[in-house]
Amino acid sequence: MKPAATDIAAVMDAGGPHLGVLMARVEDRLRTIAEPAGLPLSEWAGGTIAAGGKRLRPLLSLLAAGGPTTGEEQDALVRAGVAVELLHVATLVHDDVLDAATLRRGAPTVWAVAGRSAATTTGDFLFATAFAELARNDDPDQVKALSAASSGLARGELLQRADAWDASITVERYLERCELKTARLFAAACELGELAAGRSPALASFGLRIGLAFQVLDDVLDVSGPTEATGKHRGTDLLDGTITLPLVLARRADAELAALDPRSVVDSEAAERVCDMIARTGALEEARDYALALVADAKAELPARLEPSTRAALELIADGVANRGA
Ligand code: IPE
Ligand code: IPE
Ligand code: MG
Ligand code: MG
Repeated sequence: MKPAATDIAAVMDAGGPHLGVLMARVEDRLRTIAEPAGLPLSEWAGGTIAAGGKRLRPLLSLLAAGGPTTGEEQDALVRAGVAVELLHVATLVHDDVLDAATLRRGAPTVWAVAGRSAATTTGDFLFATAFAELARNDDPDQVKALSAASSGLARGELLQRADAWDASITVERYLERCELKTARLFAAACELGELAAGRSPALASFGLRIGLAFQVLDDVLDVSGPTEATGKHRGTDLLDGTITLPLVLARRADAELAALDPRSVVDSEAAERVCDMIARTGALEEARDYALALVADAKAELPARLEPSTRAALELIADGVANRGA
């Protein structure tokens, strides 16, 4: 995901040298954390971790700590960052089973390579490892924050399945799903960083807003592609019955789309054609505008107490989220 990589480099610059040092420690731990499980789990879990990813959630945790921290706080922060990324990767591996997705982070999914039970087990292992890592911080509030996000995620994924193929879902229902399945983990990432650094949480709402924008733009990218930029196939949501904001909005503007039964879209060529129809209505721009407003609100409400370098880096993360759909 090349555009995001440049955004992340700018965030690292703005955050200062200690951010790079902590992020390198998060990466080191992630690199080896699946090894003790042995083959084949270590390969499935470690492969998905190593396949890349933007590491947005651990970055948020490290930044939310806000500036220099003690050695002990740094250890706790690194574990929080590792835990939040592991939880994220766990949900991706499970999500690819639910969504029957074959490509993730530019590589074949565990589900595609090894099947449903392998992917379910790999996700379970990653969930368990995330909490084992976080438990080492010995802070029940951190465990509660991550577990609340994790339960929200499960509810969001189930809501999405319950809504599958229903093109008449409301914007509100769609947004509720996005909050549960994506935004709450962004909020928890911020909260964990603050807690690990001994600060009182003030960034959860920032995380929630950019998380919501992130999912809306992810859904725009599923329609706009291209695969080279997203690392995922175009039209995956549609083929899987997942009705997202672009289609909800496009149905208002296009009678043919309003009459479309999503179940009639059965192959990737048909999905691409519907994606093109959605794009022609202007719904992608409308969805993007909604996400951009969320990002602007998120930036506007960053707490005044933030150090300038932390503020600059968090603003760049918010801008990076906004640039995703551009
Ligand atoms: C993908 O998240 C899942 C969504 C919430 C849309 P990311 O786009 O952050 O995935 P990685 O970590 O960079 O692969
Ligand atoms: C977000 O949903 C994934 C999770 C919250 C696990 P999507 O299904 O839209 O994410 P992608 O498109 O597969 O990354
Ligand atoms: Mg998916
Ligand atoms: Mg999904």
